[in-house]
Formats: sequence, C-alpha cells, structure tokens
Amino acid sequence: MTKYIVQGGKPLFGEVEISGAKNAAVAIIPAALLVDGVCRIENIPQISDVTMSLKILEQLGAGIRSINPHTVEIDCTHIRTTRTSYELSRKIRASYYLIGALLGRFGQAEVAMPGGCNFGGVRPIDQHVKGFTALGAKVVVEGGFIHASAKEGHLKGTSVYLDVVSVGATMNIMMAAVMAEGNTVIENAAKEPHIVDLANFLNSMGANIRGAGTDTIKIRGVERLTGGSYAIIPDQIEAGTYMAAVAAAGGQVLVKNIIPKHMDCITAKLVEMGVEVEEKEDTLLVRRTNRLQKTNIKTLPYPGFPTDMQPQITACLSLAEGTSLVTEGVWSSRYRYVDELKRMGANIQVDDKTAVVEGVDHLTGAPIQAYDLRAGAALVIAALAAQGRSEISNVQYIERGYEDIVSKLRALGADIRAVDEPEESESVAGVG
Ligand code: EPU
Repeated sequence: MTKYIVQGGKPLFGEVEISGAKNAAVAIIPAALLVDGVCRIENIPQISDVTMSLKILEQLGAGIRSINPHTVEIDCTHIRTTRTSYELSRKIRASYYLIGALLGRFGQAEVAMPGGCNFGGVRPIDQHVKGFTALGAKVVVEGGFIHASAKEGHLKGTSVYLDVVSVGATMNIMMAAVMAEGNTVIENAAKEPHIVDLANFLNSMGANIRGAGTDTIKIRGVERLTGGSYAIIPDQIEAGTYMAAVAAAGGQVLVKNIIPKHMDCITAKLVEMGVEVEEKEDTLLVRRTNRLQKTNIKTLPYPGFPTDMQPQITACLSLAEGTSLVTEGVWSSRYRYVDELKRMGANIQVDDKTAVVEGVDHLTGAPIQAYDLRAGAALVIAALAAQGRSEISNVQYIERGYEDIVSKLRALGADIRAVDEPEESESVAGVG
C-alpha cells in the first residue's frame, strides 16, 4: 500500500500535459470487442482502470499489443468466450460496457456485477438493462453475473427513452445497437464529451451513429465493424483537477493538451472564484494570486458543472472568502470526503445533497484517507494548499484515474511523494 506525503503551502508553477480521458478510454477499450479486426488506440492514459480493462479483454481472447506507453493495438477477431472473469470485471465500474459490447457483437454476454468507486449510495444499471431489453435481449442476474442474450439470436433496432440522463446507459446502448438490425434512437441521451468520443471511435470503425453530443442519438445498424486507428480525447476532469490545484495552492500553470470547449463549465466557475484563465489553442493558462471568492455550484449532466469535479472544487471553496453552497445533482451521497477536509480545518456542513462551505483562511496538514477517486483528488488539492504535512492513504483510488499524478505535481514544484506504508506510519505524529 502506498501513501502520498505532501508538504503543503507551495504555489504551483510550470506546465502540465493532460492525458487521455479515463471515462472515454474505459468505454472505447471494451468497444474494441465490436470490431472484427485490429484497432489501434492512441492517447490511452496509463491508469489502473485502463490496465484492468485491457486484462479483461485479454482474458476474453483479444490480442493486445502495446506499441508505446499510450498506444495499443487490440485485435478482437478471435474472441474465445463471452463470459468475463468474475475477479477482474467486478473490480471496475466500467466493466458494464462489456455487456453492451459482447451483446452487440455476439448476441450474448456474462459479466460480473460492476464494482468501482463507492460514493456510499447505490449505483443502479436499470437504464442499461431497459435499453438491452428494448433491443430484444433477455437480461437476468444470477450468481453475481449479469447474463444477457439476444432472444432471437440478434438484436433489433428500437427507440429507447432514458428515464435518467445516464452516461453509462447511453454508451452501453450505443454499443449494443451498433450492429442491431435496423435503426435505434436513444432519447434523453447523455451529452458528455466521452459520449461523442465513443461515437467517433465506432464511426471510424464503420458504424453509423449520428447526434452524439445532443440528447437524441440515432444509430443505423451496420453488418460489421472493421479495424482502424483512433486517438482518445484529453481528460476534461484531469485538466479541471490541475486547474483546481492551482486555484487552491496559488501560482501559474499552463495546462496543455486540452479541448477548451470541454473546459468551459469548469473555467466559468473558477473565474467566478477569482481565478484568471487564458485560453490559447489547446492550452489554458491558469493563475491565482488573490484569495478565492465564494460561489455556488450545482452539479449536472454535461454541459453543466461535472459531478466528477465536485470534491475538488469544494476543497477550493473551503479556502474561499465567504460561504458557498455546493449542490450535488448526480450522485446524492458524494460527500464522504468532507469529514477528511474537516480534519484539516475546513468548515463544511452537509445536509442531504447540499454542502454549506464556510471558507476558512487556511487549512492544516493531517493524516487523511481517500474514499474514492475524485475524493482522493480533492484531498491532494487540499493538502497542497494546507500549511504543514499531510499523509494521504488509500491512494490506489487516485491511481485508478490520474496518470503519474505525483510526477506531474512535482514538476510544478509541489512537495509530494509516494511512500510505502511502513515509512509513513512512523511519521504520523509529526503531522501539523
Ligand atoms: N442512474 C440510474 N440508472 C442507471 C444508470 C444511472 O438511475 O441505470 C443514475 C445514477 O444513480 C446517477 C445518474 O443516473 O444518479 C448518473 O449516472 P451515470 O450512469 O451517468 O453514471 P455512470 O455511467 O455510472 C459515469 C462515470 C462517473 C461519473 C458519471 C456521471 C464512468 C466509468 N464513470 O458513471 O465517473 O461520475 O458518469 O458523469 O464513466 C469518476 O470518473 O470519478 C466517475 C465516478
């Protein structure tokens, strides 16, 4: 087990290169199962969720060839089985995409119930099941596995109206429908950048998907997908996390390799808080010199403020002048990290979906624990801004979604290092 030791209070300066988007990669890798040929996927982030997704495909019989650390070739021509390893697939949330992909290509799938970050509440997949069923599949849960099979051997295009705007259900139904007979329409679809990325990936392999990025997606079933080459978009949330780190710790950082349009919802809020953001081509220059100001935030599906930035922005607001209201509109119980911020001196009260954040003038370092990926990122941000030393445990959550976070922050002048468990336990007493 590794911990991060952070000596806070140092502003950040320099440049940071943003990696490929986690939530696009964990969908596009399983989507390679739909392709009868070799797909070359570039700009893949080196994170543990991606490693796990590739392992699962390998276990199903895919040929995986690593071209360089960020490029792989996946060959799903000779898939051996449509039953995924229970142990592997239950570890990540995104294993639910294996259902849509296997069902779409082979008319059947057996996948362990997905795991992933636990926000303390339920993470249902009823909308995924609604879509598969509408396409003509029978879906049952038995022995920890979801079994899905096309009733007539193949799926049939249909119209699906999602009762909630779901990223996962939109992408999963898209995958299942890509080779279904006839046309499929997904209404009330999610519009996140990674939905467009998955559609672009599938289209570049021969699919016929229109409307991704709007709330109506139209899919005309094709006979077969063949190979090709595709580069994943930059990670909106990783970029937002570094922007928030500058907002909290102060300094000036050039955030490189981003799509500025994807960042608008985050940039707008940081600007309201007094952060200066200058856009130039595929970079953002982020500067914070004065104290942060309060603002109110409500998380919503894209293009609203992303729930995956809620913990990081709350960490920033805990240091802002005035009282801010943060309302969670996607995952109602995503506030487990607040108790950890309180250990550092933050003044935050959570009432149901809302956090009332009364800004304090400084935080102090403490031993703290990550409960999920973005909560972990929020603690790193708080620790960078805090006075004194913090020890962050459970960092395996952070490494599920942030490539080389320690090296990237160190390159910006942060005093952060990863240590193995035994080293940190002797130093707990010194935490300020
Ligand atoms: N929902 C349902 N039924 C469903 C599916 C979702 O009621 O069948 C509800 C959920 O309970 C939630 C809302 O709909 O309240 C949105 O859930 P969504 O399906 O959009 O989330 P997801 O696909 O499970 C992905 C990301 C999450 C991110 C959400 C929202 C992946 C692997 N995960 O989850 O990312 O928070 O979309 O944008 O893409 C993260 O990266 O830290 C992370 C948790």
